[in-house]
Amino acid sequence: MNRIILAPMEGLADDVLRAVLTSAGGYDWCVTEFVRVSTTLLPHSLYTRLSPELMNGSRTSGGTPVRIQLLGSDPDLLARNAAHLALLKPAGIDLNFGCPTPLVNRNRGGAALLDRPELLRQIAAAVRAAVPAEIPVTAKMRLGIEDTDRALDCALALEAGGVQELAVHARTRADGYRPLVRWEWVARIREAVTLPIIANGEVWNLADYRNICAATGCSDVMLGRGAVADPLLARRIRAGEEEHATDADWEELRGMIAEFWARVQAKLTPTQSPGRLKQWLGMMQRSYPQAEKLYREIREARRAPEISAALARRGLYRAGAERPSESSAVVASM
Ligand SMILES: Cc1cc2nc3c(=O)[nH]c(=O)nc-3n(C[C@H](O)[C@H](O)[C@H](O)COP(=O)(O)O)c2cc1C
Repeated sequence: MNRIILAPMEGLADDVLRAVLTSAGGYDWCVTEFVRVSTTLLPHSLYTRLSPELMNGSRTSGGTPVRIQLLGSDPDLLARNAAHLALLKPAGIDLNFGCPTPLVNRNRGGAALLDRPELLRQIAAAVRAAVPAEIPVTAKMRLGIEDTDRALDCALALEAGGVQELAVHARTRADGYRPLVRWEWVARIREAVTLPIIANGEVWNLADYRNICAATGCSDVMLGRGAVADPLLARRIRAGEEEHATDADWEELRGMIAEFWARVQAKLTPTQSPGRLKQWLGMMQRSYPQAEKLYREIREARRAPEISAALARRGLYRAGAERPSESSAVVASM
């Protein structure tokens, strides 16, 4: 099947970046940032704010399905919230057992549950039972908290609970984001379960993609930071094309940057939006020297008009382009 999935990335892959990255093509679906379910029944407005795609048939503007990720530790509460969310007809509901952040983990959410496979099973079973069969319920896990001792137990528990697919980020919580990645453990999990396993972790280019597939035996791969650093990565992988960062690539990225800037401005305040563009360009520098140049030009800017002026000087922005639907036309005509 060889599916490629855009990973959930809180504070990074919001609806704006999801729209822009998936517009380049190559993704089978993407996953939202996590929604924390801790005490109450969350209102629909929270989901539609996090994922405006819900109002577009749970698809990005380019048509890529969007699954909503929930994070929590109470099976009953998660099930009630999932049932309520299901009324919005999301393309899928994903359960987060990988988030390593202390705040989330103190409240027994995310990766902190990876020492309790039985609880994982209960959560998966409760959510699966609460959601109509046509909506996929999936999960994403790390390999463990401090070590990999319970990785197989956790995967088996999620399978027993009824999740349809499982993305495995090949690190423990203690591993953080260290370059060390344990693809061999994804292979062990894949061999232990029958449900489809999606391999995740440290895929930055075509060679990494081929290596992760070979090392894990998985044909489905989830791309995280690599997808942000090279917005054309999924398509490149599908075409079997090495990373070259050609002038034609950059030309296409210029259009994506203009679209991103228009969408970010429509969503955020003039003081919030500059940080988002800097964040993306900062990551893109890894793959594109041109992004580094642009990043240096806007690095000192604190407010949106300064950024717009810098982009306009490079033919990347025209006043009034804040409405996303118009921005593509603006760029295309330049
Ligand atoms: C900024 C950031 C935010 C993340 N937020 C989430 C999240 O909300 N839910 C989740 O399951 N994983 C989250 N992750 C983990 C990624 O989905 C992915 O598992 C991880 O980055 C490893 O893949 P990569 O090496 O391809 O980046 C996040 C990662 C990053 C870098």
